[in-house]
Amino acid sequence: MADETALHDFPSLFSLKDKVAVVTGGSRGLGLNAASAFLQAGASKVFITSRKAKACDEAVAQLNKLPNLTPGARAISVPADSATIAGIESLLSQVRQHTAHVDVLFANAGATWGEKFDTHPDAAFAKVMDLNVKAVFNTIRLFAPLLQKRATVDDPSRVLITASVAGLGIGSLGQQATFGYSASKAAVIHLGRNLAVELGPRHITMSGGVEKHAQGNPMKRLGRPEDIAGVVVYLSSRAGAHVNGAAIEIDGGALWAKGQLMDAAGDEPSAKL
Ligand SMILES: NC(=O)c1ccc[n+]([C@@H]2O[C@H](COP(=O)([O-])OP(=O)(O)OC[C@H]3O[C@@H](n4cnc5c(N)ncnc54)[C@H](OP(=O)(O)O)[C@@H]3O)[C@@H](O)[C@H]2O)c1
Repeated sequence: MADETALHDFPSLFSLKDKVAVVTGGSRGLGLNAASAFLQAGASKVFITSRKAKACDEAVAQLNKLPNLTPGARAISVPADSATIAGIESLLSQVRQHTAHVDVLFANAGATWGEKFDTHPDAAFAKVMDLNVKAVFNTIRLFAPLLQKRATVDDPSRVLITASVAGLGIGSLGQQATFGYSASKAAVIHLGRNLAVELGPRHITMSGGVEKHAQGNPMKRLGRPEDIAGVVVYLSSRAGAHVNGAAIEIDGGALWAKGQLMDAAGDEPSAKL
């Protein structure tokens, strides 16, 4: 009879030893939380990308000062605009200067816009959809060859997408309504499901985190960096190797606590385009 207590090499189950990760929107916020987690879980290279080179350089300097990095591990600044194909091509060629493979792609860069229904601007809707959906698709498409390089059935490469509970429930309405944002996050969750089936045979898994720093939260607290860190390390490690096409709500149960979602500080609609 099989020994059901036997788990292969349990101490390494959540390890990211020697993994190479790319984090879009990695210069601050959730992306920087995740980058720190990747490095502290053992990743050897973590590429930080966002539009502003100075912000990427500063994030990298901060990450490289972490006291518990494995010898030789480092964060690398690769600024680029993910919203354009030219920007993603530039990102890819910068990453290629340092590595021939990528194990984890965290497609996290995103933007939001709040404006009431009657005057909701066409340009804002388009820009939010472009960055939150089309850019995610194009980044995954262009990085697929690098993601496939080391991917195997037992150790697939991972693509993580940051969505939002606004893509599962109802987002902000009224004066600061987020029609484009909510639609974009619903779209990117479904994009993840389609890509899970398309890329699964290439040994690339897809997962989404749908995050909200919620007020009126059943857990009576806001989200913490460790809440993001725990999920991205789980999904990127051997422990999460069979999760594909899933969306994980990191919101303390807030989605189910209200009929209508209210935006809190971290997810406030604003002019971020
Ligand atoms: N914070 C929350 O409570 C929350 C909740 C739900 C979902 N989310 C989602 O989580 C993700 C990260 O959110 P956050 O709050 O951490 O965001 P944030 O603090 O506003 O940071 C956004 C990041 O994306 C980068 N970025 C923006 N436009 C870009 C572009 N065109 N190309 C490349 N990088 C770009 C920004 O840097 P540059 O300005 O230098 O480009 C920055 O690094 C987003 O997808 C967001 O929709 C956040």
